[in-house]
Amino acid sequence: MRRPLVAGNWKMNGNLKSIHALVEELKRGIDQVGEVDVAVMPPFVYIPEVTRLLKDSRIAVGAQNMSRHAAGAFTGEVSGEMLKEFGCRYAIIGHSERRANYGETDEKAARKVVGVKERGLIPILCVGETLMEHERGNTYGVVKRQVDAVLDFFGVEMFRGTVIAYEPVWAIGTGKTATPEIAQSVHSFIRDRLAERNEAIANEVRIIYGGSVKASNAAALFAMPDIDGGLVGGASLDAREFLSICKAAAQ
Ligand code: PGA
Repeated sequence: MRRPLVAGNWKMNGNLKSIHALVEELKRGIDQVGEVDVAVMPPFVYIPEVTRLLKDSRIAVGAQNMSRHAAGAFTGEVSGEMLKEFGCRYAIIGHSERRANYGETDEKAARKVVGVKERGLIPILCVGETLMEHERGNTYGVVKRQVDAVLDFFGVEMFRGTVIAYEPVWAIGTGKTATPEIAQSVHSFIRDRLAERNEAIANEVRIIYGGSVKASNAAALFAMPDIDGGLVGGASLDAREFLSICKAAAQ
């Protein structure tokens, strides 16, 4: 049995005041949430504060990005050692916003997955097709290329303990969600792709869904056999919504 994971990607949102309020409400509500791993990904600067606030909580903290380098002349970047020092457990890699706006290629994302694992953190590798790719019927081709970038260069072992997030770009922040059936079919495609190399790893790997996940659609998505939780953007900024999504994943 794979333990579900719900991760809240706060993106570049919030301030000290709003983050305090959000975290306090999450801490109050998390006891009513069953068997599920829960994590939040604040902007870098707020990570120390959020890990401090969540010190005795089961809610883990992650980063939205990470440099693959250990240290050195990389202006504006943050290393895995730094994230670990401040209690991070996860790092999102290859989010579509980083692929679209910051030149993060399949190859760069793959190298970062390696870097994250080397630092002892858990990568959440995002894959997913754009609207145009979706409309051209190229969903599986794109997702295959993104997964294969890791598989072909670094091998299936890289997926041991790694989380994959399928996030169709056309569903991110748009209010449009892939139907549970569409998402399930892509998730099972990804799992099959890994199974061709190593069945045990394919069965263990958590594949979570992202793209307009809300309290109202979470249960139907998470009921699918290959959907092991969610990567939640907008709805993770609302404690009640986020906790409801976590509850749905636990059921
Ligand atoms: P959304 O974002 O839930 O706001 O669609 C998801 C994501 O980008 O991870």
